[in-house]
Amino acid sequence: MHRLYLALDVETAEEAFRLLRRIEAKPAVKVGMELFYHEGGQFVERLVGEGYPVFLDVKVHDIPETARRTLRQIGRLGVELTNVHTLGGETMMRYALDGLRDVNETTRLIGVTQLTSTDERMLAEELHIEGGLERAVLRQALSAERAGLDGVVASVHEARAIHQALGSQFLTVTPGIRMNETTDDQVRVATPKAAREAGVSAIVVGRPITRAEDPNAAYTYYLQEWSRTYETNR
Ligand code: C5P
Repeated sequence: MHRLYLALDVETAEEAFRLLRRIEAKPAVKVGMELFYHEGGQFVERLVGEGYPVFLDVKVHDIPETARRTLRQIGRLGVELTNVHTLGGETMMRYALDGLRDVNETTRLIGVTQLTSTDERMLAEELHIEGGLERAVLRQALSAERAGLDGVVASVHEARAIHQALGSQFLTVTPGIRMNETTDDQVRVATPKAAREAGVSAIVVGRPITRAEDPNAAYTYYLQEWSRTYETNR
């Protein structure tokens, strides 16, 4: 996997397709909670049907049986990637994976570790998690791996340590990608080139493309920085 997922952080399907029509290539896309809660599974199935590789980013975090039943529903949508929250625990992650595999052999399941908007102070003082971000993310990645998941969502800053501990096949998917100082609400940011150098499996880019005056130019620029060629975004 070597993807750039374009985060479709817009309110409606209409807006999402308007944005996609402005981009010449057929990007891999990330559908988050905002769009999924509004448009539901039919919209996701339409994207899949039109050939867009989809990462459904709904960060499931619930009791194990509910996670299993939820992932069984998600599994029917045909997305290539989806996620649960690692802090739901290993039993929850295992149940989620079981639910997914009941209906589908191909969708990959990854675990969210610490959001890229979380900094060291917040981790310690608000979330009361000890040992610092890198160690916390690594512990969560190890627990995802024990539960049988395919990888994690983390920041570029932890990717190298994760791959060192768990190998290059274990996926790291990293949001918080920026070319310049504008970070919006993200804290642990990095450039696409830094992501590539850290061995990241896939990057997620939203506002730098969706809010650009010319989304096609911005997408092309980020994609080239990330992969150098269009061909590798397959
Ligand atoms: O606009 P921006 O590039 O910051 O968008 C990043 C996307 O990645 C958002 O859709 C956000 O929900 C998502 N995300 C994140 N951090 C995570 C998991 C998902 O920023 N740990």
